[in-house]
Amino acid sequence: MAKKKITVLTGAGVSAESGISTFRDNGGLWDNYDPQVVASIEGWRHDPGMLLDFYNLRRAQLKDVSPNAAHRAIAALEEEYDVTVVTQNVDNLHERAGSTRIIHLHGELTKVRPERGVYDNGSFSEQEVFDIGYSAIHLGDKAPNGSQLRPHIVWFGEAVPKIEDAIERVIRADILLIVGTSLQVYPAAGLYRYAKDSAPIYLIDPQDIPLRDPRITHIRAVATEGMEIFKKILENK
Ligand code: APR
Repeated sequence: MAKKKITVLTGAGVSAESGISTFRDNGGLWDNYDPQVVASIEGWRHDPGMLLDFYNLRRAQLKDVSPNAAHRAIAALEEEYDVTVVTQNVDNLHERAGSTRIIHLHGELTKVRPERGVYDNGSFSEQEVFDIGYSAIHLGDKAPNGSQLRPHIVWFGEAVPKIEDAIERVIRADILLIVGTSLQVYPAAGLYRYAKDSAPIYLIDPQDIPLRDPRITHIRAVATEGMEIFKKILENK
């Protein structure tokens, strides 16, 4: 009997209890930095050194945090279900918690790639992406093709190469779980709309989320508590 498919859409809220700040909560990252300056392709063109420093700092901080019980509960779903995690997060906490199929829509902090990709239209091949762990890169650090190394992050103003794969995983899901995202950044925020009519949608977030979709059950809790509630819902299915 094939396992039922669960697709889990996660955002910064799933990593909040690991000590990584979200973006739009009070005191969040975008309260302290302007995303158009430190997380956009225009910002990179204007001052690449500033973006290298911003991502070097976040990459180094990642070494000192750990997955929390929500990451582990999401990974444990794989015992009973065919799970795909579609995350907007660039941290590696889902991997470190044991999830085995993860789509990073917005890139990965521990990875870098050449500024000038192998294809003419500026896109790149996965073979050009390198994992540098928690170390830093600086102006003048070059890829084998001679161009400046840059964070493997999808910046504002750039395409989201993995969105088609993510849509496919939502369409095929028997259950959709959304954890810890304000659903304000597209195309990620529109993914839940691809869920088939028969697929229940559960959303874990301590804040009210202005979605008025009758298919959505809002579990109003932090991720670690919400995952315990979600597991009980699954047990009673
Ligand atoms: N548990 C669950 N959810 C939480 C918790 C928690 N402990 N703490 C906060 N949240 C919720 C907030 O209520 C909010 O709805 O997590 C969500 C975080 O929203 P954002 O800070 O906007 O983060 P996210 O939705 O992931 O942002 C999407 O925006 O700037 C870009 O690329 C960046 O990937 C990011 C994207």
